[in-house]
Amino acid sequence: MELKLAFIGFGNVARAFARMLCAHRSRLAEEYDLTWKVTALATGKHGCVLSQSALDVEEAVAVVERNESLTELSTVRAAHDSIEIIQACDADVLFETTPLDPDSGEPAAAYIRSALSRGINVVTANKGPIAFAHRELKTLAGTNGVAFRFEGTVMDGAPVFNLAEYCLPATRVLGFYGLLNSTTNIILTGMESGQSFDESLAEATRLGIAEANPDYDIDGWDAAVKTVALANVLMNANARPSDVKRAGIRAVSSEHLKSAAQGGNAVRLVARAETAGDGLRLTVSPETVPLASPLGCARGASNVLVIKTDLMGEIAIFETDPGVEQTAYALLSDLIRIHEDLMTERRHKI
Ligand SMILES: NC(=O)c1ccc[n+]([C@@H]2O[C@H](COP(=O)([O-])OP(=O)(O)OC[C@H]3O[C@@H](n4cnc5c(N)ncnc54)[C@H](OP(=O)(O)O)[C@@H]3O)[C@@H](O)[C@H]2O)c1
Repeated sequence: MELKLAFIGFGNVARAFARMLCAHRSRLAEEYDLTWKVTALATGKHGCVLSQSALDVEEAVAVVERNESLTELSTVRAAHDSIEIIQACDADVLFETTPLDPDSGEPAAAYIRSALSRGINVVTANKGPIAFAHRELKTLAGTNGVAFRFEGTVMDGAPVFNLAEYCLPATRVLGFYGLLNSTTNIILTGMESGQSFDESLAEATRLGIAEANPDYDIDGWDAAVKTVALANVLMNANARPSDVKRAGIRAVSSEHLKSAAQGGNAVRLVARAETAGDGLRLTVSPETVPLASPLGCARGASNVLVIKTDLMGEIAIFETDPGVEQTAYALLSDLIRIHEDLMTERRHKI
C-alpha cells in the first residue's frame, strides 16, 4: 500500500527519519509492501510547501541543511503556515516534530488536533501534546477512526509504549523510575570525567540531542514532561507537568560529583512516579545513586526506565547512547504499525 506522508517540522529528527525512509525504501516495500511519497512539508523558518504529486525528499533535506527555503524545490506550491498545510495536504500520515513547549504543549497539540479531525493518522516525537492532551487526542483519533502514535516521545526508539501495549497484556503499571533526559546525563557524566558544564552541554548540542532551548533540559522540564507523558499513558493518569515536583541540575557541582564518586555513588537526574494514597506522586530531581546500579552505570546519552508492574514485577529498559537515529526509528516503527493496521482494515473490507 502506498502512503502519502506530510511533515510538520523538518529538523534533526524529521530529516534523520526522511534519510532512513529513503535508505530503506526497498526493505519497506519488499518486507511490508509499504511504499510512500511525501506530499507536504512545513517548517518554522524554512518555508511550507505542498505537492500534488510527490516532493523530492532527498533534495528537501539538502535544501534545509543548506539553510535555504523549501520553496526552492520544484513542483511545489508554497503555503503560509503549518495550519494551512494541515488543512490542505493530501496525506495519510502526518509526522509532527516541532519543538517542545513545556508550558502548554502548543502549537503541536493544535496541529495534531487539526490533522486527526481531518481523518489523518498522526505520529509525533513531541512529548508536549502527550503531557497536556493525551486523553483528548486519543479520543479524537478514535472518533475519527485514525491512529495517534508517539513511541519516540519518551525514550527515542526504545519500545516503551509498544512494550506496554502489545507485550504486557492484563498487567497494571504501578509506578516507574528512570533517567529520561539525555542532555543532563551527558552533562553530569561529562562533569564526572572532568569536563566543564558548558563543554558537556556543547557536546549534547553538537549531537543534536539538546532541546532547541537547553534550559528545558537543564531545569528538568523535559524530564518532567516525559514523566507526565509516561504516567498519562502507562498509568492512565491525567497529570500535567506542573504536577511534577521538579528540580534541575544547575546546583550540582563538580565537587558534589567527586564526593559522590569517592563513596561509590553517582548523581543522576531521576524521574519517578509512585502511587501515594489515592493519588500519584511525580518527581524529577538529582539523586545520589550507587554507581553499580542501573541508573549509576548509565553514562552519556543513555536512558534507563524501570517499570513496576503488578503481574510482571520490575522491567528495565536500557537504551545505550541514543541519538536522533533512534528517534527516527521510533517514527518508522509507528509508520509500519499504522500501515499494518490499514492493511488489516483493507483486508476486512474485502
Ligand atoms: N533530537 C532528539 O534526539 C529528540 C529525541 C526525542 C524527541 N525529540 C522531540 O522531537 C521534536 C523535534 O526535535 P528536533 O531535534 O528535530 O528539533 P529541531 O531540530 O529544532 O527541529 C524542529 C523543526 O520544527 C520546525 N518548526 C518550528 N516551529 C514550527 C512551526 N510552528 N510549524 C512547523 N514547523 C516548525 C523547525 O523549523 P525551522 O528550523 O525552520 O525553524 C524545525 O524544522 C521535539 O519536540 C523534540 O522534543 C527530539
